[in-house]
Amino acid sequence: MPATVVLGTQWGDEGKGKAVDYLADGMDLVVRYQGGNNAGHTIIAEGRLLKLQLIPSGVLYPHITSVIADGVVVDPQVLLDEMTQLSEAGIDPSGLRVSLNAHLIMPYHLELEKVTQRFLGKNALGTTKRGIGPAYADRAARVGIRVQDLYDEAILREKLDVVLWEKNQVLTKIYNRMAMPAERIVEDYLAYAERLRPYVADTGKLIDDALREGRHVMLEGAQGTMLDLDHGTYPFVTSSTPVTGYALASAGVGPHHVDRVVGITKAYVTRVGAGPFPTEDTGEAGEQLGERGHEFGTVTGRKRRCGWFDAAVLRYAARLNGLSELCLTKLDVLSGFPTLQVCTAYRVGGETWDDVPPNQTLFHRAEPVYEELPGWEEDIGEARALEDLPKEAQRYVELLEDLGGVPVTMIGVGPAREQTIVVAG
Ligand code: IMP
Repeated sequence: MPATVVLGTQWGDEGKGKAVDYLADGMDLVVRYQGGNNAGHTIIAEGRLLKLQLIPSGVLYPHITSVIADGVVVDPQVLLDEMTQLSEAGIDPSGLRVSLNAHLIMPYHLELEKVTQRFLGKNALGTTKRGIGPAYADRAARVGIRVQDLYDEAILREKLDVVLWEKNQVLTKIYNRMAMPAERIVEDYLAYAERLRPYVADTGKLIDDALREGRHVMLEGAQGTMLDLDHGTYPFVTSSTPVTGYALASAGVGPHHVDRVVGITKAYVTRVGAGPFPTEDTGEAGEQLGERGHEFGTVTGRKRRCGWFDAAVLRYAARLNGLSELCLTKLDVLSGFPTLQVCTAYRVGGETWDDVPPNQTLFHRAEPVYEELPGWEEDIGEARALEDLPKEAQRYVELLEDLGGVPVTMIGVGPAREQTIVVAG
């Protein structure tokens, strides 16, 4: 049976939580494949507001097995806190499975990220300070601690001794911080291990078995294409790989299973943290988009930078991810703007670029070329079919489809699950 990949096409915060939650209805497994608790899903389901950072939103459905795959970095304290939050809201998290191969975020990752970002001053990229980058860096340097290491105390102590020798030198000698004693970390992490024991699993085998049994699997990304370590606006990116290819690598399955790649695209664009953002509007329109769209980070509470829709970014995401369809979110936020701008290309030093320029220096200097469209006044929160939308809103959707070359199959017209238009194919 086929697998569906769902991912963000912009700089994250495209409203994936609601879209994933909506799509999860028909799924048996929902697999989170990268990132950590730097992502934040806000989900409103049956009147309940839930903020999840690590656990896939499929957990809301009793029939779904939620999986945290190999490529995710896990802060065990955050994971356990989220499980408690769910239990308190009456949601049973017992279907959750965490990969034995997933890397752990350790206390020194948090400490090091704090001091290094501070040290960078104006060059800091504005990370979420959850230890994500340092954990991925240790994974690549092969000094990471994995979930499975928690179940072999001798190995855990040996690996910690190796890694702490270097981390403590850096913390004390370069950053003038306190050293972190291994004993305390071992004690805390062994306690986490006991609590997590029922949930850890060989998730690669679990996912493959499910696909062979004809069950439906959703591979859910975090952040967005433009924050991808390779394909995003490096170095202003996250330290993992949100694009489709990595969904397979992290889940541990082959590409023949995937038959649907859903790109989540917000009707305008936002970005948190530093880095190029050609359609950013620092004037009144940007302010209004931020206010109407409640554009504050779920994880950090930071105000998001806002701007008009960027079709060059959409085309880029369509190409990189092999998008088969689009889920357009937050269209209702555009109600009330007399005119709307859509970026169709860039001007860079007298040249026109239809695509995201391959060179970061050019992208930093890219000026958007806008097509102006008439806006609409009506509140569209009650629309449930394309025909219920004002003509201008229909025209807006059509333009994005044309410019992106990908059909829109779902449109979000409000935060509630039922405020969704499913476009008949
Ligand atoms: P990190 O992922 O914490 O290392 O942060 C790296 C960059 O990615 C920063 O600019 C963050 O603001 C951004 N980032 C990380 N996660 C998210 C997210 O879920 N939404 C939007 N931006 C994010």
